[in-house]
This record gives sequence, structure tokens and C-alpha cells, in this order.
Amino acid sequence: MWITNLVALVLLATATSAATSAKADKVLSNHATILADNSANLAFSLYQNMAKEKDVENILFSPVVVATSLGLVALGGKDSTASQVKTILNASKVKDEQLHSGLAELLTEVSDPKTRNVTWKISNRLYGPSSIKFVDDFVKSSKKHYNYDHSKINFKDKKSAVKSINEWAAKSTDGKLPEVTKDVEKTDGAMIINAMFFKPHWDEQFHHKMVDNRGFLTSRSYTVSVQMMHRTGLYDYYDDKTNKLSILSMPLAHKKSTLLFLMPYHVGSLDTLEKMLTKKQLDTWMGKLQQTAVAVSIPKVSMEVSHNLQKHLEKLGLTEAVNKSKADLSKITGKKDLYLSNVFHASAMEWDTEGNPMDTSVFGTDKLKNPKLFYADHPFIFLVKDQKTNSILFIGRMVRPKGEKMRDEL
Ligand SMILES: *[C@@H]1O[C@H](CO)[C@@H](O)[C@H](O)[C@H]1NC(C)=O
Ligand SMILES: *[C@@H]1O[C@H](CO)[C@@H](O)[C@H](O)[C@H]1NC(C)=O
Ligand SMILES: *[C@@H]1O[C@H](CO)[C@@H](O)[C@H](O)[C@H]1NC(C)=O
Repeated sequence: MWITNLVALVLLATATSAATSAKADKVLSNHATILADNSANLAFSLYQNMAKEKDVENILFSPVVVATSLGLVALGGKDSTASQVKTILNASKVKDEQLHSGLAELLTEVSDPKTRNVTWKISNRLYGPSSIKFVDDFVKSSKKHYNYDHSKINFKDKKSAVKSINEWAAKSTDGKLPEVTKDVEKTDGAMIINAMFFKPHWDEQFHHKMVDNRGFLTSRSYTVSVQMMHRTGLYDYYDDKTNKLSILSMPLAHKKSTLLFLMPYHVGSLDTLEKMLTKKQLDTWMGKLQQTAVAVSIPKVSMEVSHNLQKHLEKLGLTEAVNKSKADLSKITGKKDLYLSNVFHASAMEWDTEGNPMDTSVFGTDKLKNPKLFYADHPFIFLVKDQKTNSILFIGRMVRPKGEKMRDEL
């Protein structure tokens, strides 16, 4: 009898807290909702494009932040230079003002440290050649909507120009991202730079002592030594036996977002899985997740990844802004004298044990009996998916974590 009462009490408490948090929760405007949805489509088309590139190992980017960088191009562009942005974001019907305020609203919502308890530092800068002049209006509105700084840079001394970019990125991420790029090829245009640091705060922490060294098989013949953290708990999980992969969802603090792992059963190329990746497929998988006891082992690592997105965005349809003879970015400079030569998108992500206290009530109960094993010791894809807005905060793949090569034990 007392058990029923206890359950009732717990249910009551949960219901009440859900009600209060729902009241405090701001509802996203209509256009922000549309843009959130479309930024998720952007996530997959951009990912597919990047995965085709040879010699790229780890991938990591924030579709929401890429969307706001596109927003900046629309803000500085005229005519088709600007309208191509809307086409990519499938937002042709959204008015300019709504595009900018909607993207700003979305980014503010998902990166709010208070409601999400997330560590997500985002610094954005637009560099222009020293010959140009930034228009005041643009400087103001790009700061207001997209929190962009502006700076002119002299590439006559390329080495020190690159150094100052990297120093800015390191400083704005508290040293977590020491380098955005080693070199800049095209130095005659505008350069967008996003420098980020993201650290998930687990809804249920790992025990800091449940960490040890294990091998991560980047391929069948190459193993690196990484730290792995372990815990058993109740998670949303699905075994896709047809496609031979496991899907695990680990909620982050306040459960407003979740870290979703897509891991093939076996070591090998991620090609097949990557070709399947679409928003629709993701929704299908999400719909099949079921609360399951899972013994989770994942790398306790930090990864720093930097991409130059310029050519990928061009492939997705941003052909005018990046073309010197066609670009009209005259809202930035007042003249048609600028094109977009680089889009550096760099993030550091750190997976650690920290999070909210564990739910100890399930320990020693039947609920955790015979857990499924989720052992992330070979390449996988992951997403930080936002539950409230349905947007994708990050998408990436871990193919080669940092670590020393391990000797073959044969
Ligand atoms: C683009 O937006 C329209 C509505 O504005 C929607 O019906 C359509 O499905 C969207 N396309 C994609 C690929 O998301
Ligand atoms: C938020 O994060 C901080 C720092 O990691 C932690 O101390 C705190 O318990 C968290 N609070 C909630 C409500 O998640
Ligand atoms: C830029 O546009 C012009 C005119 O359409 C075209 O001929 C040229 O190939 C484009 N340049 C690049 C680098 O794509």
C-alpha cells in the first residue's frame, strides 16, 4: 500500500514540476519553429556533403550555428546573394526581418545556460580585408541578431594574420580551441569564423572513478588508447537489427536536449550508416527508442574539429556569395567589393563524467537486470538533439579520438 502512495507522490511531484517548468518555458515563435526544423534538414545535407570528402576523419559542427552564419550572409547580401540563403534554409516565404529574428531567437533558446545548464560558448567574427569599410548599420544589426564581432585583417603578413585568428579563437573559448586553421588560402575576401566550446552536462552523471583506459579501434588494424567512462542506467535505446546498429539517447541536464549515439555493431566504415542519415530516418529511430537498462561505456575525451565550410555551402546552393565576380555583399561595405572567401567553423567538445546526481533508487532493483551493452569503442555518429525545438545543436562522428597508438597484443 505504501508503495502505491509513494508512486502517487512521485507522480504528483513530477507532474507539478512539469507544470511549473512548462509555464516558465517560452513558446518559440512560428518562424523560429520553421527555421529550427529546417536547420535539421541542413544538418544532414551538410553532413552528407562533408562525409564525402576524403581524408576527413572526425566531423563536428553545429547546424544551428551554421544556419545563423547563413543568416549573416543574408543580412549582408542583396538580391540573389541573399535569396540563396533562404532557399538553402527552405525559408523563401519567411520575411527578412523574421529570418533574422527567428534565427536569433532559436540560438538564444538553445544556448541559454540557465534553462539548459549547458556549457556552450559561441564566438563569431567576421573578418574583412583591410581595404574595406564596414557599414555601421550592418555592424549593429549583425551584433544584435547574431552576436558577431567585426575585424579587419591584413594578410600581407599571412603568418601573423593566421596567428591572430587562432589567438582570438583560443581566448574566446578559454583555451579549449587552440587552433582554427593552420593556413588561409584565399585571403582577398570576407571570412566568417565560429569558435565554440561545448560541454554536455549529463542528466545523470558518471561516477568519476568509473573511468579507465581502453582501446578504441579506429579500424580493424589500428587501436588507440583512450579513457572510457562507464555506467549502467535506464536509457532510451533501440537495437536496429536490420541495419546492424545500436541507438542510445543520453539526456542532458533538464532533459531539454539529448546526446544521441548511432553506433554500428561492428568496426568499419560509417559509409552505409551515413547514406541512411536523413531527418525522416532519425525521426523513425527516435520513435522506436524504448527505456532499457543499458551498461554504457563511452570515451571520456575532448575533440577539437575545424572545418572550412565554404565549398560545402557552395554545393548546397550558396554559389553567389562565394563567387568573386557575382557576390553582392554591399550591405556589409556599402559597395560591391566583397565576397565570402572562407567559412571556418570550429568546435571543441568535451565529454566528461559531470552531471546531475544519479537516480540511485533503481540500483539493486530488477530494472537494471541484464543490461544491454553499449560499448563505444569504434567509430560512431553522434548528435546533440534538442527536444524542445527539434533542432540539432551538433552533429558529428568520432572516428579517431586523441590517444596513443596501442601495440598489437597478438
Ligand atoms: C520546405 O518548407 C515547406 C513549407 O514552407 C514544407 O512543406 C516542405 O516540406 C519543406 N521542405 C523540406 C525539404 O523541408
Ligand atoms: C548545473 O550545472 C552545474 C555545474 O556543472 C551543477 O553544479 C548544477 O548542479 C547543475 N544544476 C542543474 C539543475 O542541472
Ligand atoms: C563565378 O561566376 C561566373 C559567372 O557565372 C562563372 O563563370 C565562374 O565560373 C564562377 N566562378 C567560380 C569560381 O565558380
